[in-house]
Amino acid sequence: MGFKEYYRVFPTYTDINSQEYRSRIETLEPLLMKYMKKRGKVLDLACGVGGFSFLLEDYGFEVVGVDISEDMIRKAREYAKSRESNVEFIVGDARKLSFEDKTFDYVIFIDSIVHFEPLELNQVFKEVRRVLKPSGKFIMYFTDLRELLPRLKESLVVGQKYWISKVIPDQEERTVVIEFKSEQDSFRVRFNVWGKTGVELLAKLYFTKEAEEKVGNYSYLTVYNPK
Ligand SMILES: C[S@@+](CC[C@H](N)C(=O)[O-])C[C@H]1O[C@@H](n2cnc3c(N)ncnc32)[C@H](O)[C@@H]1O
Repeated sequence: MGFKEYYRVFPTYTDINSQEYRSRIETLEPLLMKYMKKRGKVLDLACGVGGFSFLLEDYGFEVVGVDISEDMIRKAREYAKSRESNVEFIVGDARKLSFEDKTFDYVIFIDSIVHFEPLELNQVFKEVRRVLKPSGKFIMYFTDLRELLPRLKESLVVGQKYWISKVIPDQEERTVVIEFKSEQDSFRVRFNVWGKTGVELLAKLYFTKEAEEKVGNYSYLTVYNPK
């Protein structure tokens, strides 16, 4: 039970040319540009296959992408090669970054908190603050899964072939196992359940909030300054 199958099946995070991936970029591009007026050095944290790294490179930023998955980084490098991109893609762990203190003007962290348990997200935030310049910005985008959870139980269709057939939260609703089913197969993924309040409480330890944008019904782009 894990994310491998989830990322294999849905192009939303793995095919930068898919409609699903492009629509994420179209939604976030104007917001990122609103808060990233000054060019500089960007860390795309948990970059996946790198779509947002390429977007920012096209705007003139110097970008490094880090992801723990070798498969994701391999694909990101393939895309980079075909685009003649200079983005550097590195396999690495967001909980323990290999960069010097105060290296980046921006850290972006998009659609990734479901991978992290509370102690782990705490480590990630601590590392983000460490690698950010004092004048830097941490920009994160996430979906409030706690709010969304009751709706998931209504058996939503996901993508072209799959629907959600089971939603099994643990007792305290810290994690939820979601079963995706198609005519042919099914698989389960365990997500960490983060709500806006939980994220904010943790972020407060390391950052002050500069701005927040609500996107759709359940998602937020939040801009933080290091404390
Ligand atoms: C949903 S994808 C989002 C990727 C990218 N930010 C995007 O929006 O396309 C989440 C990513 O988090 C990565 N990830 C999970 N745990 C990680 C960790 N400890 N350190 C770095 N990346 C991690 C996964 O490999 C995956 O590529």
